[in-house]
Parts: sequence; C-alpha cells; structure tokens
Amino acid sequence: MLGELVVLKEGVYEEIRQARSLHELEEIRIKYLGRKGIFTSVFKCLVRIPKEERKEIGRLANEIKNKVEALISKKKTKIKRREEDFLKRSSIDITLSPPLPDIAKKHPLTKVLDEIIVIFEGLGFQIEEGPEVESSYYNFDALNIPASHPARDMHDTFYITDEVLLRTHTSPVQIRVMERTKPPIRIIVPGKVYRRDADISHSPMFHQVEGLLVDEDTSFAELKGVLTLFVHRIFGEETRIRFRPSFFPFTEPSAEIDISCVMCKGNGCGVCKTTGFVEILGAGMVDPEVFKAVGYDPERFSGFAFGMGVERIAMLKYGIDNIRLFFENDLRFLEQF
Ligand code: DAH
Repeated sequence: MLGELVVLKEGVYEEIRQARSLHELEEIRIKYLGRKGIFTSVFKCLVRIPKEERKEIGRLANEIKNKVEALISKKKTKIKRREEDFLKRSSIDITLSPPLPDIAKKHPLTKVLDEIIVIFEGLGFQIEEGPEVESSYYNFDALNIPASHPARDMHDTFYITDEVLLRTHTSPVQIRVMERTKPPIRIIVPGKVYRRDADISHSPMFHQVEGLLVDEDTSFAELKGVLTLFVHRIFGEETRIRFRPSFFPFTEPSAEIDISCVMCKGNGCGVCKTTGFVEILGAGMVDPEVFKAVGYDPERFSGFAFGMGVERIAMLKYGIDNIRLFFENDLRFLEQF
C-alpha cells in the first residue's frame, strides 16, 4: 500500500504540473478529490489494512491529499494570472465598445425632394408620375414646341427613334394628366429627365419637379403666391424673390424666377456671377395651345405651371459647387448630410 501511495503521489503531482487550463485543473480535482474520487476510495481501503500499518498509511494519504489540494489551488492562481497577463499584453481591449455599423443616410437629393413634396402637399398638390421614355408628341408637340424649336436639336435630346426619346423635362406629364382627368387639377411631378449635356453644373440625367394647377379661375397672382411661399419655406423667409419675363412655348405669359443668392445673401459672388440673384424656376400661365391639345376649353379654364431642377436647389441649399458629386456615391460626400 505504501508503494502504491508513492506512485499515486508522483502521478497526480505530474498531472497538476502538466495542466494548461482551468478546465483541465478542475478535471484533475474531480478525479482525485471528488466525492467518488481516488482519495475517497483510498480512505475506504484503510479499514482492510492491519491496525499497526493503518495509522502510518492514513497519515501519509492525508498528507498527500492536503498537498494535492494546495498544489491545485496554487496552479489555479498561476493559470489565472497568466491569462490576465496575456489579455493585458495583447492589445485587445475587451472593455472597448464594438464599432457601430454604418447607418444609411438619405441622399441629399432625396432629402431636398422630400422637402419639396411636403411643401406642395401642404398646399393640396397631389403627386403624379410619367414615363422617362417618352414620345416626341408628349415631350414637344403637345407642349406647343414646334419642330424648329432649339430644344428639339439633337444636341439636347437623347433620341431612341425619330418618335421616341428620353424625356428632356417633366412637362409632358402635364399633358398625360390633363388627357385623362378633368379640372380642377393640382399636381406636382417629381422625376428624372435627360439631356445631352455634361459639365460641373449639368448632368446627362437630373431631376425636376413640375407643377400644374388648372381651374376655372386662376391667376398669375396665385402662381406668384404659391412660388413665393415655396421659396420662403425651402430657402428661408429672408430670401428675396424676383419674377423676370421669359419665354416658354407652353406658357404665356412666362417668367423665370430668381432668388437672392443664398451664398452671398445678394451682395454678389461667384455663384450668382456678382448679380446677387440666382435663377431657380421657370413658370407661367398655361398656353391656350396646350389646353387645345388636351381638349380643354381655353375660354373656360386657366392654369399655371412651373418647373424646377432638384439638383440646382440642392446645390444652392447646401453650397455644393459640382453636380457630379451627387452621382459619384462617395461616402465622404454623402455622410455630410
Ligand atoms: N420644362 C422647362 C424646362 O425643363 C421648365 C418649365 C418652365 C416648366 C416653365 C414649366 C413652366 O411647367 O411653366 O426648362
């Protein structure tokens, strides 16, 4: 029995020495010191040993058991300390919060478009849409743009066939809506338009919002009121507004609307080319020829229309000097909004 105890002692000491983790150490503890462990059976065996030897063997077994307990506890502390040291040395800071996922933001054009829509919805305008691939009838003829008009020049328009093209403005939706409904009409038409033009302020694809109001009794004063309110809401109450006589084939009279330059507050700068004003809208009273094209009686109905470029408004609102920034999808740009 003495010999067996010596072998047991050597074995368990070695196992403890070899243990690499707290888990391994716990398994050793259960194996030797647990309720059904090796030391329990050693003490059970003692009764079968002659009395004179029992005392000596019992003392030795107890001594070994106490030593095993002490070794396990010492080793436990050692492993724990080693793990802590490892975490400290490796540059992982386990208390650091994980990086937050990138949360998508609205594109600046979507933000401006949303704002425009909310303003006009508040005035009772409904949203309409139309096709981007359009016929030359809707894009030009029905809008009183004769075949000789410069807008028909190949330079501006992407033609698919002689009769089919990419719409160059949202105005054809005026015709489509008037063809299928009767006045009163009060709509805005947001959408993409296409022109063969590209530089820092022109993109071959850009966005417009068209507006159309038709009723029995409308006036230029009403148009002025609506657009003034719109400008004040989107650019701020302090913005000054100027109506300048102009020409569009589908409106008569026509106007271009300027606002006091948002960059220099009207003092004159590069953006407004020192004039203090920048153009943001085309508008006018619907031309009787347009009403005739959709079968409305121009004696009975009158209306006004307007059209604006969304990129232009966004560029002025946010001080962006290059239209291409909207379409490059560079996060360093997009994250600023
Ligand atoms: N369609 C014109 C353009 O793209 C903008 C425009 C001007 C729209 C006057 C209108 C309007 O409805 O009345 O340049």
